[in-house]
Amino acid sequence: MPFSSESNPDTELFDLIDAEWQRQVTGLQLIASENFTSPAVMRAVGSVLTNKYSEGYPGKRYYGGNAVIDCVESLAIERVTRLFGADHANVQPHSGANANMCAYQALLDIGDTVLGLSLDHGGHLTHGSPVNASGKLYHFVPYKVTPGDERIDMDQVRDLALEHRPKMIVAGTTSYPRRLDPEPFKAIADEVGAYFLFDAAHLAGLIAGGAHPNPVPFADVVTFTTHKTLRGPRGGCILSKAEHAAAIDKAVFPGWQGGPLEHVIAGKAVAFHEALQPSFSEYARQIVTNASALAAALASEGFRLVSGGTDSHLMVVDLRPFDAELTGKQAQAVLDQAGITLNKNTIPDDPRSPFVTSGVRIGTPSVTTQGMKEPEMAMIAALIARVLRHRADATTLATVRSEVAALCSKFPAYS
Ligand SMILES: Cc1ncc(COP(=O)(O)O)c(C=O)c1O
Repeated sequence: MPFSSESNPDTELFDLIDAEWQRQVTGLQLIASENFTSPAVMRAVGSVLTNKYSEGYPGKRYYGGNAVIDCVESLAIERVTRLFGADHANVQPHSGANANMCAYQALLDIGDTVLGLSLDHGGHLTHGSPVNASGKLYHFVPYKVTPGDERIDMDQVRDLALEHRPKMIVAGTTSYPRRLDPEPFKAIADEVGAYFLFDAAHLAGLIAGGAHPNPVPFADVVTFTTHKTLRGPRGGCILSKAEHAAAIDKAVFPGWQGGPLEHVIAGKAVAFHEALQPSFSEYARQIVTNASALAAALASEGFRLVSGGTDSHLMVVDLRPFDAELTGKQAQAVLDQAGITLNKNTIPDDPRSPFVTSGVRIGTPSVTTQGMKEPEMAMIAALIARVLRHRADATTLATVRSEVAALCSKFPAYS
């Protein structure tokens, strides 16, 4: 019997989606790895493409009926290779974590040595954390930021590379506020004969918009997520030099994944199309401008910015100079009550545990998508400071909650 959307609607579930929609549009979304994707992306992701099995690649599928799907996936590949100037793209990884594991499988043997940025200094779990498969399958050696300027210590990267002779060097960050220049990593990788993988999960949108340097000319492989600054659907992608194309494709399927999520790949194709428009460069630059403005305003409220500020879409705030008693965990919880969503984050060499932390991470991709600019960044900094100063006062929290809702109503994420 054909489905009728009218018969027995699932109000229980769709009420929950409505509630989440309300939360997103009436609060400030400051999680650096999130964004508001476009209605066109959501239309693609919610399409009948979810019904199709298409194991394999365009022209080489294990199932019939893939003529249209082949066009969808080919379109996504063509757009993303044009966007970043890459030789080859695999658009099938279900996530950024999968993209990294597939890239490792393509280029490494189990137990090989890899350099990656330490998790507590701004790296990602998939860069060798002992609790992650990357750290269990490969021998990761962590590099860090300097204690002084809190920037990646390239002298240490070189020393470790000369000492450990890694098969791969991974550059890529989750909570590092500074530019990540690919060229110095490439020079060290060449010196020791290592592969160079650039994980652009956070930076993909800034790179696509020309606000940060493009690693594609320098790296053997570039992995990224499509849902952060790039503003697409939740998913991953791998770009590579032509010589690694076959190994990458084999590592994704049949190596790590089964049937690709073609509805999500369609959403990625839409996002790549949007990122190819000239207006996306303006967007990417405004994200960075907004982050600088927010960081400066927070500094004037008495917060310390890790590394002294930001030149990306995010900042890491050390709460201790503002209030020695205040933890990242408390700040996240109390700001949530006031409609300001961000996440607790360790600061380099944090004396507190990753579940408590001395800092928070704040990002500007979502509020920039809403059209907010520098004046709103100053307002947001003031709201954050007010909540944290008066965190025991329920009236302040309620007042800020309504001021946040009023601000968001002037910059609707969706019409
Ligand atoms: C640098 C980096 N790599 C990989 C990932 C993993 O992406 P996903 O959550 O889609 O698996 C993230 C996610 O935050 C990231 O920041």
